Amino acid sequence: MQSSIIDALACPHDGRGLVLEGRVLGCPMGHRFDRAKQGYATLIRRPLAHGGDPAALIERRLRVHDAGLLDLLHRTLTAAAAAPTAAGWDTGPDGDRAGSPAPAPLPGIICDVGAGPGTYLAAVLDALPGRSGLAIDVSRAAARRAARCHDRAAAVVADVWEGLPIRTGAVSLLLNVFAPRNVDEFARVLAPGGQLLVMTPAPRHLLELRDHFGLLAVGTGKEDGLRTRLGRGFEAAGSDRVATTITVSPMQAAELAGMGASGHHLDEELLQLRASTLPERVSVTIAATLSRFVRTDRPGMARERPG
Ligand SMILES: C[S@@+](CC[C@H](N)C(=O)[O-])C[C@H]1O[C@@H](n2cnc3c(N)ncnc32)[C@H](O)[C@@H]1O
Ligand SMILES: [Zn+2]
Repeated sequence: MQSSIIDALACPHDGRGLVLEGRVLGCPMGHRFDRAKQGYATLIRRPLAHGGDPAALIERRLRVHDAGLLDLLHRTLTAAAAAPTAAGWDTGPDGDRAGSPAPAPLPGIICDVGAGPGTYLAAVLDALPGRSGLAIDVSRAAARRAARCHDRAAAVVADVWEGLPIRTGAVSLLLNVFAPRNVDEFARVLAPGGQLLVMTPAPRHLLELRDHFGLLAVGTGKEDGLRTRLGRGFEAAGSDRVATTITVSPMQAAELAGMGASGHHLDEELLQLRASTLPERVSVTIAATLSRFVRTDRPGMARERPG
């Protein structure tokens, strides 16, 4: 685990810093957390209420990413993360960088909340040499995969609704892709000037598969809701809508259908059965919105860990 990541971690009981001794992360108050032999640490203060995505779903998601079916989303996120205004670069008070030397990145780690197998985090780390990244997910199967996603990445099991085991202001770039958002915690862990990149599915995402596989519809108004909830402590800094149509095999269509929220109700047998009645080539819409927010430092913002 990179030292910058360890320095950014906090004890889930009291928010104090952690040190790594052998395979144990410990805080000065005596709380101890073993790292699993697969490399991830579990930083929780009470037993998890739910285990997040099971291994079968994580493996399905990994196959979809590896097949390049979501390349558009990968490219969109990495381009935003690597753009000078996106990766925690300080652009000065008026944001005008014309003629100025290359800006220094804000200190702090990259963190992907609800990272799944860490595929997006790995792509962003590839685009940002020298930075370190932390994948957080409530699923142990996800953390097991994410711990190996990149040599500058580490993975932690934590429930975002219980608070993030990260020190206040220790993150300069926060990623959140199709995953739950605890906006108070996002505001707390992001350094002022740090960036939050949120990717949400658009209503047309996987539209062609919805009836066939019984997928849940994507809610409309997601972006507005996001902007309202992030109002406190964040400034909206633009959004990018992207969409494409890909052509896939019936089995790839089934894996796309089974990798999201509805995947919990779709086991392999059912996916294969439904795939068997699809034509040889299936057109599928991939559509998402990437929204960018900058952490402001308004007076009166709570900067302490809640609870
Ligand atoms: C739809 S998946 C997206 C994964 C990844 N960002 C991607 O797009 O490939 C949502 C992820 O959020 C995780 N998750 C669900 N509830 C969570 C919670 N309360 N705290 C942390 N992670 C959670 C799930 O385990 C799952 O890996
Ligand atoms: Zn402690």
